[in-house]
Amino acid sequence: MNANLAQQDLDHLFHPATDLVGHRRSGPIIWSKGEGVHVWDDQGDRYLEGMAGLWCTALGYGEKELVKAAAEQMETFCYGPLFAGRSNEPSIRLAARLADWVPIDGARFLFGCSGSDANDAQIKLIRYYFNAIGQPKRKKILSRGMAYHGVTIATAALTGLPAFHKHFDLPMDDIIHLTSPHYYREGRPGESEAEFVERCGQELEDVIAREGADTIAAMIAEPLMGAGGVVLPPEGYWDRIKPVLDRYGILFIDDEVVCAFGRTGHDFGCQTYNIEPTTMTMAKALSSAYQPISAVAVPPFMYEAIEQAAGGVGLFAHGLTYSGHPVAAAVADRNLELMEERGVMAHAARMGEYLQQQLAPLADHPLVGDLRGIGLIAGLELASVPAERKAFDPALKMGFKVAAACLDAGLVVRAIPGDVIAICPPLIIDQEQIDELVKKLTIGLDQVATTRL
Ligand SMILES: Cc1ncc(COP(=O)(O)O)c(C=O)c1O
Repeated sequence: MNANLAQQDLDHLFHPATDLVGHRRSGPIIWSKGEGVHVWDDQGDRYLEGMAGLWCTALGYGEKELVKAAAEQMETFCYGPLFAGRSNEPSIRLAARLADWVPIDGARFLFGCSGSDANDAQIKLIRYYFNAIGQPKRKKILSRGMAYHGVTIATAALTGLPAFHKHFDLPMDDIIHLTSPHYYREGRPGESEAEFVERCGQELEDVIAREGADTIAAMIAEPLMGAGGVVLPPEGYWDRIKPVLDRYGILFIDDEVVCAFGRTGHDFGCQTYNIEPTTMTMAKALSSAYQPISAVAVPPFMYEAIEQAAGGVGLFAHGLTYSGHPVAAAVADRNLELMEERGVMAHAARMGEYLQQQLAPLADHPLVGDLRGIGLIAGLELASVPAERKAFDPALKMGFKVAAACLDAGLVVRAIPGDVIAICPPLIIDQEQIDELVKKLTIGLDQVATTRL
């Protein structure tokens, strides 16, 4: 490790989402290079990036076409805001291209810089909309335990992970967390999956009855939960939940920050699970992480109501300096174009099936309680007594130990809450590289299983 750089990291960097105390002891891993699905640390050691960074480097590392798109845009026109009706070509092109991708007819796109600011904007848009149509009591947003929707004050409140609330004076009023759709953890002894789904549906109906449908604006959810534990909805879950929302006029915010653009085997997670979204949030793979950019897809009925209400104010008073940043938009547009030209969605769907087949034997590994996944995303939930679904004592930090052992074996994976090892490689991964991933993952798991004995 470059000792000087590492020391400067310890002296000056404030690491997000990090065990700050542990970091003082361990110091940083400094990444220095990436190519395809591999990354290198500053010692020259090579790793397979099994997490696509943070679920985002869809086209992998070192993609020259994206570098070119950014450089050309910086040279011709590096920045211009979309405020006050000004526009720029990349934002217009990206919005038009996205309109062809998303399953929301006539959608318009509000750009941002991150999934968090986009979900925050979702809440603001929904408030604006209901105020505009004369239903100002509709303020409450339904989310779910273990959900991850971001870290601004409002989106951290939507997030259902205790560590994201503690010391931040969160969650807040008007945000209601329903049971996580995590049958493996939340299912009661003797309860079948179908009974669990029914309980989730009944809970939703009870909450609506208790709070009053006219006070609930929307539900936000990922089609499958990513950072909250790679939780796949149990069979029939969305068929039970979505009609209840529709019956009471509760909008559905589809958080596709992880699922969008091929991750689950279809363009969007909502298509994999057959859910009709009202609005949609996209980020991460939108630019394959080459530029920070997010997008909120807004349907015409909401846009028209917002437009009319904003007319009375004189302007729609929301926007970031970098909403529709031309460089970010140019990169995202080229990224989607490359996905189209190269058939990345179809490739990801094929590789997704192969990944799930190759991972399947690990369901019987002595450390694995539950193996779950679809497409190019998977989670291995560790258990001390798999047959009894008995979790490890969190103090043992088993997830972190397995992730560290995988790193030693040359594979980047991530330990997420609940001792879940998350797998989410770049969409361009091929069969040979999937074999490498599964081999290294097995080495990491075996390593920890052996030292545990
Ligand atoms: C589903 C989901 N929504 C929102 C976010 C927040 O995105 P960002 O970290 O870009 O703010 C994330 C980040 O991982 C996410 O997974």
